[in-house]
Amino acid sequence: MKVLVLGGAGYIGSHVVKAMLAAGHDVTVFDNLGSGQLGNLFPEAKFIAGDIRHADDVNAAFARGFDGCVHLAAYKAVGESMAEPEKYSVNNISGTLNMLNAACAHGCKNVVFSSSAAVFGSPQYVPIDERHPTDPESYYGFTKLEIERFLAWYDRLKGVRYAALRYFNAAGYDVDGRIDGLERNPQNLLPIVMEVASGWRKELQIFGQDYDTRDGTCVRDYVHVADLAQAHVNALAYIAKNDRSLTVNLGSEKGVTVTEMVEVARKITGKEIPAAYVGRRSGDASALYATSALARETIGWAPKYSDVETLVASTWKVYQKYKAPGEKK
Ligand code: WQD
Repeated sequence: MKVLVLGGAGYIGSHVVKAMLAAGHDVTVFDNLGSGQLGNLFPEAKFIAGDIRHADDVNAAFARGFDGCVHLAAYKAVGESMAEPEKYSVNNISGTLNMLNAACAHGCKNVVFSSSAAVFGSPQYVPIDERHPTDPESYYGFTKLEIERFLAWYDRLKGVRYAALRYFNAAGYDVDGRIDGLERNPQNLLPIVMEVASGWRKELQIFGQDYDTRDGTCVRDYVHVADLAQAHVNALAYIAKNDRSLTVNLGSEKGVTVTEMVEVARKITGKEIPAAYVGRRSGDASALYATSALARETIGWAPKYSDVETLVASTWKVYQKYKAPGEKK
């Protein structure tokens, strides 16, 4: 298939491009390189520099004719979305509407959308399945849920078939080492742990040690980006073949605490990784993990790389190539 990957130079997008190429697709990347990086591009894929906020850019891209697209061009920092919702309105929501309208105008009827566990808000039960009520606690999560609703309407009204993939905590790097662009200003646990291991940060702050979990720190469901990437390939095949849309959770189903993650990182890096327990971070749920039974049944998805050791080791391999953020050795 001819596939357009919007946001294909980003952290998750570049892994999606790799998986799409491996599946034999003819891939074009559309990216404004705001957080994506040239170094994440694969020479086997074509590249269009463009911005989803500009309808003309998106229209010109879709005019090239695609059978399917994957949409990952979005801002994703939860805290920032609460402080600067306008950015998220314009980029995530208006940008997606530009994308959907252009896709429809040019006959691209298969859309794989990068959604998030953030659509659920505080869990009412775990593991979280797809029927769990959606009640986002952040503006970021709200944008993802709204887009899922737009997709459902475009399915009804325009015949768009979509797969909304609700990622849990994406982590890890390409196990073959081909993708090695570090995210700028990372906000998530594993990159922060790696920055401490690399000596770029003095210590890790562990947010809360009095949660009702096995060691008092929060439990999350970390899933390897290569596994997420494979799910996009499977989901695109599913919606195109069955002419039916799909919304699925993508998690490893293994709950891991912050302390467990840090312990594995100490073992694998051989570094001390100083850590201090500080107060809870507002909005953090005690335990959040998925059941991916639906993804298993529908798109035949099974994570291969989402054990903590592979998550940490694949990430550490990339960090070891850098002497400072943005500066390779
Ligand atoms: C993981 C755990 C922290 C940093 C976020 C979004 C979610 C999704 C994934 C996109 C938590 C703890 C972290 C630190 C810490 N994003 N932590 N010290 O909050 O589970 O999920 O990213 O769709 O929507 O909310 O991820 O990586 O920030 O935190 O103790 O310096 O690590 O409290 O328990 P989170 P995270």
